[in-house]
Amino acid sequence: MPKQTIRDLELSGRKVLVRVDFNVPQTKDGEVSDDRRIRSALPTLNYALEHGASLILVSHLGRPTGKPEEDKLFRMDRVAARLQELLGRPVVKANDTVGPDAQAACAALRPGGVVLLENVRFNSGEKKGDKKFAAQLAGLADAYVNDAFGTCHRDEASMVAVPECFPPERRAIGFLVEKELQVLEALLSQPKKPMIAVMGGAKVSDKILVIENLLPKVDQLLIGGAMTYTFLKAQGHSTGKSRVEADRLDEAKHLLELAGAKLVLPQDHLVATSLEPSAETKVVEGSDIPEGWLGLDIGPKTADAYAARIRGAKTVVWNGPVGKFEDEPYRQGTLKIAQALAESPAVTAVGGGETAEAVEEFGLADQVSHVSTGGGAFLESLEGKSFNSLKVIPDK
Ligand code: 3PG
Repeated sequence: MPKQTIRDLELSGRKVLVRVDFNVPQTKDGEVSDDRRIRSALPTLNYALEHGASLILVSHLGRPTGKPEEDKLFRMDRVAARLQELLGRPVVKANDTVGPDAQAACAALRPGGVVLLENVRFNSGEKKGDKKFAAQLAGLADAYVNDAFGTCHRDEASMVAVPECFPPERRAIGFLVEKELQVLEALLSQPKKPMIAVMGGAKVSDKILVIENLLPKVDQLLIGGAMTYTFLKAQGHSTGKSRVEADRLDEAKHLLELAGAKLVLPQDHLVATSLEPSAETKVVEGSDIPEGWLGLDIGPKTADAYAARIRGAKTVVWNGPVGKFEDEPYRQGTLKIAQALAESPAVTAVGGGETAEAVEEFGLADQVSHVSTGGGAFLESLEGKSFNSLKVIPDK
């Protein structure tokens, strides 16, 4: 069922609390190193401002520990500065979330004004979903918009208890969340066939539920990344020094049986003597990794074969790099997959923090149909889970 969106809200003259996900990647010094999540929220923010609202923005950043020295990096000041540049209008950064500074900044808001509150996770009530804290936050505004898809799988106060403080007609999703839900619906409900899923990443254990949920929908599941070696080990092959989840071999066997011919494993591998980018490398054909070597990328034949299968699909979903793409020598497989998606006229959706990062880094993000802003939220959506943060937003 489609959800009530920001288009359905009375906005003129209202203070709208928008829960955004500005949990952006940062450099060691706390600079914003990738502003995609901020840019992705702009359509909602601009729409509200153009319709006469003022904005109170709330987000988490990182996982604060409560230790002031470490948490300094998680203050929202740099995010506010970047947002101000992107919005092209002043953004007032409050130094607390519901304290006197936030209250004064929100009280002074006039239509067209924007306040960004301090990191909501600096308050212990956020993680606990505390109702008293939620009421304080909700008390700052007249309406609530959830435009934080990346956080939708969390039951934190600003995602669930805060919207519950508003009457149903004052709760909505923003355009970013709307688009993510539409894409997921297209992928999971009535995908155009043939549908291919590319699954990479280190651990089978992270992907069990996704694979189980996707299997009945997809025509093929192409496997890459370190989880390949857990599957190969489960089939009785030698895996050399490759990363294997020894305690997950039974689950891997179960998935192999369940999937049958749908699950495709690499036919060759780029192996190295160590994890280092400078390690000696070679390509190994077949399903056995020699003693003393570890698999760090799919091999060139596999990359070509996977690209050909992607070219023949009408829907492609990709989660998880197929190699250690952050190091130049081990990125060819992930690059080839990204290029195949970019060249394909199919519905192509990419999600999960690292996968989105790879596509961005290769400069191909604009050429796939959708790059999700969700990491865990995208994965849990593919698992078929529904989120409390969306249940509290009324259907249309
Ligand atoms: C994410 O980056 O996946 C979201 O912002 C959620 O962050 P979290 O995993 O720290 O809850």
